[in-house]
Amino acid sequence: MQTQTRILHEGDDRSAQHGAVNPPVYYASTFVFPTVQAYYEAGADPFQHYFYSRDRNPTVRALEDKLAALEGAEGCICSASGMGAITAAIFAAVKAGDHALVVDTCYGPTRRFMERMLAGLGVQTTYYPPDATDLGPWLQPNTRLVYLESPGSLSFHIQDFPALTAQARRHGAVTIADNSWATPLFLQPHRLGVDIVVHSGTKYIAGHSDLLLGVLTTGGEHLRRAREVSVMLGATLGPAEAYLALRGLRTLPVRMAQHQASGLAVARWLQAHPKVRRVLHPGLPDFPGHALAQTQFSGWSSLFSVELQASLSPEQRHRFVESLKLFSIGVSWGGYESLIIPIESHDPVVAAARARVGLNNDCYRLCIGLEDTGDLIADLAQALDGYQVEG
Ligand SMILES: Cc1ncc(COP(=O)(O)O)c(C=O)c1O
Repeated sequence: MQTQTRILHEGDDRSAQHGAVNPPVYYASTFVFPTVQAYYEAGADPFQHYFYSRDRNPTVRALEDKLAALEGAEGCICSASGMGAITAAIFAAVKAGDHALVVDTCYGPTRRFMERMLAGLGVQTTYYPPDATDLGPWLQPNTRLVYLESPGSLSFHIQDFPALTAQARRHGAVTIADNSWATPLFLQPHRLGVDIVVHSGTKYIAGHSDLLLGVLTTGGEHLRRAREVSVMLGATLGPAEAYLALRGLRTLPVRMAQHQASGLAVARWLQAHPKVRRVLHPGLPDFPGHALAQTQFSGWSSLFSVELQASLSPEQRHRFVESLKLFSIGVSWGGYESLIIPIESHDPVVAAARARVGLNNDCYRLCIGLEDTGDLIADLAQALDGYQVEG
């Protein structure tokens, strides 16, 4: 069955919902039973029966079934945010005394979690470069986790998943990959050997900037453990968010096709502009990781960075961003609307990542939304016209 069809039909059981075409929003904290025996039976396995919504809820379950199928995984656990999925996956993989290897270009709050939470609990972290294909120099006897994210945050470095996951497996380490950028439509990390895939479903999967969603997919013992940890942490997704995410998910393939086309069109236009120094977009043929990406990805999403000429003051750079009319200034991405943020150096995590990949101060992260591409390019053109040293 093709992906578009699976998204629409996987896991649906309309006969169990009186023929209603969409799954109902099951607003229920708890589920009740006709007998004590039935109550005990359900409570003995709350992930298979409906018992308490922190463990399992039918609306959330409908979303989880579709996402597991899309990632090619045995099971899926949805959380209240991407960080809920990331922290559950990491807590499920390590214990005190273990060592974690994390890619240097990971999402900033993931790094903060390793440093501010896990270090204090006895898990030491080393950061490895995103272009490493041999983890040998960084692996330690007690390395139990290898964390991947490709493309990397801000720099969009592409990682060699098959090489890295094979090495981690030989070493007895669990691999976790953040797949938010590509979505399961454009990259399926389990097929490249990744044990646990996590997403900020807040982004393209939900797609409308109206909810937070974490997604974790895996199988076997990893699934059992991740479910246990996720329920203990309590960052459970509510049924209303699950319903909205299901609604967004139905149009993921059509939205991603448009995001891909618009993202590439804007990136190519920027690349040809005389005031642009570099465009960091893995889908551009001259991007350093493009050839490797082509062996793993089947498409490109619309989040990328652009570097201008570094000749302006911070105030002038801010004025450039503020002069855009269709790009709003804000974090997050993957929604219907175009967004921009300056990538500046006051955050040490950002500063370190920028220094390693040689980004200058005049760098911006763009997410290309679903507006008309010509309108977006015209907006960038007028803002770049005004981008100049004054007087
Ligand atoms: C790559 C990446 N992973 C994870 C997250 C965290 O997701 P959430 O904001 O849903 O907690 C984000 C959020 O921006 C992200 O960009």
